[in-house]
Amino acid sequence: METPVIFETHAHYDDEAFEQDREALLNSMEAHGIGHIVNACASIESLKATEELMEKYPFVYGAFGIHPDDAEKMTEDTLKEIRRLCHLPKAVAIGEIGLDYYWHKEEHEHEIQKKMFLAQMEIAREEKLPFMVHSRDAAKDTFDLIAARGKGQRGVIHCYSYSPEMAQEYVKLGYHIGLGGVVTFKNAKKVKETARQIPLERILLETDSPYMAPTPFRGKRNNSAYIDYVAQEIADLKGISKEEVIAVTEENAKKLFAII
Ligand code: NI
Repeated sequence: METPVIFETHAHYDDEAFEQDREALLNSMEAHGIGHIVNACASIESLKATEELMEKYPFVYGAFGIHPDDAEKMTEDTLKEIRRLCHLPKAVAIGEIGLDYYWHKEEHEHEIQKKMFLAQMEIAREEKLPFMVHSRDAAKDTFDLIAARGKGQRGVIHCYSYSPEMAQEYVKLGYHIGLGGVVTFKNAKKVKETARQIPLERILLETDSPYMAPTPFRGKRNNSAYIDYVAQEIADLKGISKEEVIAVTEENAKKLFAII
């Protein structure tokens, strides 16, 4: 068996926060024990940028989709482009897609977000790919949509921040839970409890870099090397070794993203 390496399932290396040192940083990942990184698209511009990163770095995979922040900018052509990109050999998921009612409070915005979330879930279904979910202040609508329309599909609720009970419901539906820097925050009781309760087989490690840096780097720019703190915290919460967390979550991600 190969030595386990960390599978970072969610980062945004096309973000301008990495403008100065992107190449050096990505080239240092192997030395930090990071074996695979999924770069998740957020904006429409990041579709192209993610394709380029995926082509340049053998260990970078792509998730193609549009974040709810940009739902209003999406057209039929955007959906077509996502469909084209997800046929590339290292495209492993549709994402990140979902609902964000924290930044978007108007009912008409919610309607557009739901429509685009469903349209992209449908691409995932047709292309037999998992999808990555962003959900903020939209717990019920997100769960209801996935429970009603995502039956038999696979995916991950990224940067999970809702209740442990809801996490269990997602697990029952066959979904994975993405845990990142938040699990290390002192006051993140719900997320810590989620990490404790759900089976390790359903957890994915992620950073959401450049955002969500774990303690002791909270508030600073995040990068995938800091994922070690997330793995350690999950290990402590579950009373197992960090090595086990790294090994099992790597297997989880490889299975979910169909990487051999
Ligand atoms: Ni993200």
